[in-house]
Amino acid sequence: MSIRKIGENTLKNKIVLITGATSGLGKETAMGLAKLGATIVFTSRDRLKGEKTRTELIAASGNENIDMLHCDLASFESIRSCCKEFRSKYDSLHVLINNAAIWDFKRRESKDGIENIFATNFLAPFLMTHLLLDVLKKSSPSRIINVTSGMHYGTIHFDDIEYKQNFSGSKAYRQSKLGLILFTRLLAKKLEGTGVTVNTVHPGMNKTNLGRDAGGFSRMIFKLMGKDPKIGAETSIYLASSPDVENITGEYFAKKSIKRSSKESYDMDLAQRLWGVGKKYVKI
Ligand SMILES: NC(=O)c1ccc[n+]([C@@H]2O[C@H](COP(=O)([O-])OP(=O)(O)OC[C@H]3O[C@@H](n4cnc5c(N)ncnc54)[C@H](OP(=O)(O)O)[C@@H]3O)[C@@H](O)[C@H]2O)c1
Repeated sequence: MSIRKIGENTLKNKIVLITGATSGLGKETAMGLAKLGATIVFTSRDRLKGEKTRTELIAASGNENIDMLHCDLASFESIRSCCKEFRSKYDSLHVLINNAAIWDFKRRESKDGIENIFATNFLAPFLMTHLLLDVLKKSSPSRIINVTSGMHYGTIHFDDIEYKQNFSGSKAYRQSKLGLILFTRLLAKKLEGTGVTVNTVHPGMNKTNLGRDAGGFSRMIFKLMGKDPKIGAETSIYLASSPDVENITGEYFAKKSIKRSSKESYDMDLAQRLWGVGKKYVKI
């Protein structure tokens, strides 16, 4: 696929909502898209950190149209109230980037009492996307980008999806990222003909705050082998802005191209089953 050049005002008058832009890849993605002229709305679970990020993004991009909404993705109530606030302030949404995630080696629970990796990395984007789907449809052509990981190998443990027994941070993380690809592929089918596309991206290994709650070994690997998140953010920026991908949907991207993901991630029976489980959890 040839990559067409994107310029300063490519995203003028476009509204982008991105979760978790207070650090790492989300911050670099927000920065890159702000430089392309988009109105950036990002979420932060910490209002002060969010305000600081907003000031930094405005200063570095020269784009004043940057807004922060408070949202704790480990709380369904907070997600619902964030989406309500978004709707009260904006009529359109052209790009939704479900970027935020955690990787924790200790089993913790969300505000709703659900294993936190599953809640934050899978249920939160599942709920947020559903709550904003009508705005995305109304604003079409529009795009959804779900940030997954090359570490999505494995399966969905339907018999104990919250890892109440034998918790492993790595397994829970891999399951959540596989879940996101399955969700994306099924959603792409459901959205056919609406003008809304949905794709996943694997950003590669980057030096970010991810893994700060994981083990010392993982932290060291990220530190030694991770790239600058500016590079990692390039594919999310590309998917959000390039005309090359405007009609591509349901795919898994890395380094600005479509790649094969795991065998399980193409299993539409698995995707249907997980969709049903997700709906029950988030009560939609
Ligand atoms: N780094 C890598 O090598 C790598 C590799 C593959 C995939 N990814 C994926 O890339 C995405 C971005 O991760 P990153 O590496 O940039 O990590 P990061 O630096 O830790 O950034 C994660 C972002 O998510 C936010 N967040 C976490 N939990 C939240 C919650 N409950 N409510 C609201 N916001 C929350 C964080 O907010 P705070 O600032 O408040 O913590 C932060 O803004 C993730 O989906 C990750 O799985 C990363």
